[in-house]
Amino acid sequence: MGPVVEVRDLVKRYGEVVAVAGISLEVHAGEVFGLLGPNGAGKTTTLEILEGLRRPDGGTIRVAGVDVRRDPQAVKARIGVQLQQAGFFPRLTVGETVRLFASFHRRSVAADVLLQRLGLAERSRTLVEDLSGGLRQRLSLALTLVNDPEVVFLDEPTTGLDPQARRHVWGIIEGLRGEGRAVVLTTHFMEEAQRLCDRVAVLDHGRILAQGIPHELIQAYGGSSTLVIGGELPDELVRELPGVQAAVRRNGETWVHTLLPLETLHALVETRTGRIACGYLHLHQPTLEDVFLTLTGRRLRE
Ligand SMILES: Nc1ncnc2c1ncn2[C@@H]1O[C@H](COP(=O)(O)OP(=O)(O)OP(=O)(O)O)[C@@H](O)[C@H]1O
Ligand SMILES: [Mg+2]
Repeated sequence: MGPVVEVRDLVKRYGEVVAVAGISLEVHAGEVFGLLGPNGAGKTTTLEILEGLRRPDGGTIRVAGVDVRRDPQAVKARIGVQLQQAGFFPRLTVGETVRLFASFHRRSVAADVLLQRLGLAERSRTLVEDLSGGLRQRLSLALTLVNDPEVVFLDEPTTGLDPQARRHVWGIIEGLRGEGRAVVLTTHFMEEAQRLCDRVAVLDHGRILAQGIPHELIQAYGGSSTLVIGGELPDELVRELPGVQAAVRRNGETWVHTLLPLETLHALVETRTGRIACGYLHLHQPTLEDVFLTLTGRRLRE
């Protein structure tokens, strides 16, 4: 089966500012795809173009079989777009809100099924204005799914949520993947992207710097792993270890930076016996955050 989202050479300018400078990507059914990048990288602009909400200056976009540039209206029935909180009516209840949004679509999921699924069944009669931030976010996800979309677009779905609410949203997104929907999301949380996304693209200045499976990007751009050894390793022993780039001793520990963590660890365990006192071992492997910082050369700002 071909991709559900297919973007080629996408360009968007705002006057002098080139917000999107030639992006190409594909997303398949049953896949969670993450757009990562610093503030202003062009993530939201890209999403809004795919959703048919903004017109691009160049490129081709197919979403769920629809040519979005030619027919931005047709795509709306096939996709789910997470609304900002501003889209709610505070004096409606949760149940009324879901039924109202369902009435906008020709095809919709039954309100009680949706509320059940998002853990909102008990809140059906609660006024929207009385919801906590986490429950509001769930309601906004319910509205995103009200038309049973093939492709779901989520712009920072977990920003502002506490760890518990965040995990709840992760579970919902994993459920969408399990049902064979395609999910395109943005996030500033690299741990979340690593855990949730099948593939990610790292953007900056409107361009994709790298895209792929998180662990492959980590392999390519994450840099060395660090083995923290609870004990002072003598130089001659460190020299025998494979893959080591550098070793630093501090506060009774040795920090060994290595490109071959498993080989280093193995050699250490083999040769250590009787030669050093080693209280403990920690292995710190690079993460998607290291990839992000290596590629963008900037600090995370959120
Ligand atoms: N309506 C607009 N008019 C003019 N410039 C805009 C408009 N919307 C976005 N931009 C500019 O386009 C660039 C990309 O913005 P965009 O909102 O897509 O970034 P983003 O990656 O979503 O950032 P963030 O992480 O802060 O949400 C930025 O330079 C931004 O200032
Ligand atoms: Mg944005």
